Amino acid sequence: MPLKTITNLINELKDKEDFIKDKEGIRHSKQHQKGKFFARERIAKVLDKDSFQEIDMFVKHYSTNFGLEKKIIPADGINTGFGTINGRKVFIYAQDFSVLGGSLGEMHALKIQKIQDMAIKAGVPIICMNDSGGARIQEGVSSLHGYGGIFYRNVKASGIIPQISVILGPCAGGAVYSPALTDFVFMVNKISQMYITGPKVIKAVTGEDINNEELGGAITHNTISGNGHFVFPDESTCFQAIKELLRYLPSNCYEKPPYLYTDDPKDRKDMILRKIVPTNNKKAYDVRDVIEIIADEGIFFEVQPYYAQNVVIGFASFGGYSTGIVANQPKILAGVLDINSSDKAARFIRFCDAFNIPLLTLVDVPGFLPGKDQEFGGIIRHGAKIIYAYSEASVPKLTVTLRKSYGGAYIGMCCKDLGSDWSVAWPQAEIAVMGSQGAANIIFRREIKGADNPEQKMREKIAEYEAQFSNPYEAAKRGYIDGIIRPEYTRKSIIEALEMFRNKREPQLNKKHGNMPL
Ligand code: HXC
Repeated sequence: MPLKTITNLINELKDKEDFIKDKEGIRHSKQHQKGKFFARERIAKVLDKDSFQEIDMFVKHYSTNFGLEKKIIPADGINTGFGTINGRKVFIYAQDFSVLGGSLGEMHALKIQKIQDMAIKAGVPIICMNDSGGARIQEGVSSLHGYGGIFYRNVKASGIIPQISVILGPCAGGAVYSPALTDFVFMVNKISQMYITGPKVIKAVTGEDINNEELGGAITHNTISGNGHFVFPDESTCFQAIKELLRYLPSNCYEKPPYLYTDDPKDRKDMILRKIVPTNNKKAYDVRDVIEIIADEGIFFEVQPYYAQNVVIGFASFGGYSTGIVANQPKILAGVLDINSSDKAARFIRFCDAFNIPLLTLVDVPGFLPGKDQEFGGIIRHGAKIIYAYSEASVPKLTVTLRKSYGGAYIGMCCKDLGSDWSVAWPQAEIAVMGSQGAANIIFRREIKGADNPEQKMREKIAEYEAQFSNPYEAAKRGYIDGIIRPEYTRKSIIEALEMFRNKREPQLNKKHGNMPL
């Protein structure tokens, strides 16, 4: 046999690569017809130009079940590798729905597991682009074995590197649990779907009629189930947002988040803050207006904007420091804490704490939501999560009470007793065990009932309670808050506190892990 020259060998390599890419390409027009990009396009659109280094391109399944050996499955239906986003390293994979529905067989799973292991070792985020019909049915239990290994690594990676899932097709069965174990789930309207079992199985088992979109579309998961964190009108906008999110995050739990350069003056003073929050505690306002005024350049990257809207969570920077914000939203349900908002806030607090992102809590909360549905649904257990998450968090914790802060929710919104490092209030703050009407009704009930004019008496007693407790001074007198600030200086005060606590150290008791209420 003649000796092969390096040119021959390189041509052979190119032929093999082209074969795989051509085979993938044949099916891609179907994806485009659905308004979807195909796997390689998606990777190219998220990563910096020409930065993708593919891993395991030549991996092949070896299943012979149901004639699978005759099927050509290029790259086994998934592209995996690493690259950069705005110069920062990431691992990435994209399932290829055009090949056996992006279904997951043993080798497909091993490709994912390999880069999960690499990402943990390298300490860089992983981006998981899911477009899959779930377990590759022909490969049977080997597919389940593959999923088990992926889920296991998702959990091992949790809290070490940021894990971002992007749902880019009808993800069914096993394809939904990996996203659920990651930190953020991005979805695209009318393209992304997630369900354990599809409409046909549901019809067969329970008789219910429901279509794919209603069952597991992006709107459903971003408004009702809370499984989604973001929804976008198309894939390109979605990919932009992934890049935006990464700006706020460190690459791993051993690093601090990147400094976000800004020209916005640290001591910028905004008198409009005196007007945004009405002193009348019954009047609503949008807390995002406050955030956008105090944050660098007015930029707020909101997370889960359509789910449990009575609490607002997201990222912003202050003087260049990446910060996680948790704020009650008086515009929705008066900003009350309920089951879903407690879950939403608690998970976000734990994410920020895991990745050294300081927390800013903006408080205007009338309490936990009363009612049978909430009690039956486990508000005690769910509300406990927010208390647990704040108490456990060791990152710098700053609290600003804008207006109401009553009862259990006063504690739940990161009061000093839960370890707030710096807690201040605006002059209109009301820090009390409950609202004055509720309080007067309980403690002066007999007096009101026995009065000649009960309504008049009630008004007097409400006013009496309000005068004594509906202010920030009762709390300030006892050192339960650290100070009362003028609203216009909020940005400056926050930045100074962030600088002060930047290198905060809090000794931790040595234990395996706590037992968070779930
Ligand atoms: C093998 C699959 C597949 C799968 C889809 N395909 N899902 N092949 N295993 N799980 C193949 C189809 O046979 C078809 O092949 C091609 O992918 C495209 O599928 P279509 O049905 O034509 O596409 P569409 O109409 O868009 O519907 C997509 C879908 C549907 C909603 C995902 O395919 C579907 O319902 N698939 C099964 C979903 C499911 O029940 N998965 C659960 C698996 S069990 P051809 O050759 O015709 O193009 C599981 C358990 C794990 O995941 C549990 C772990 C916790």
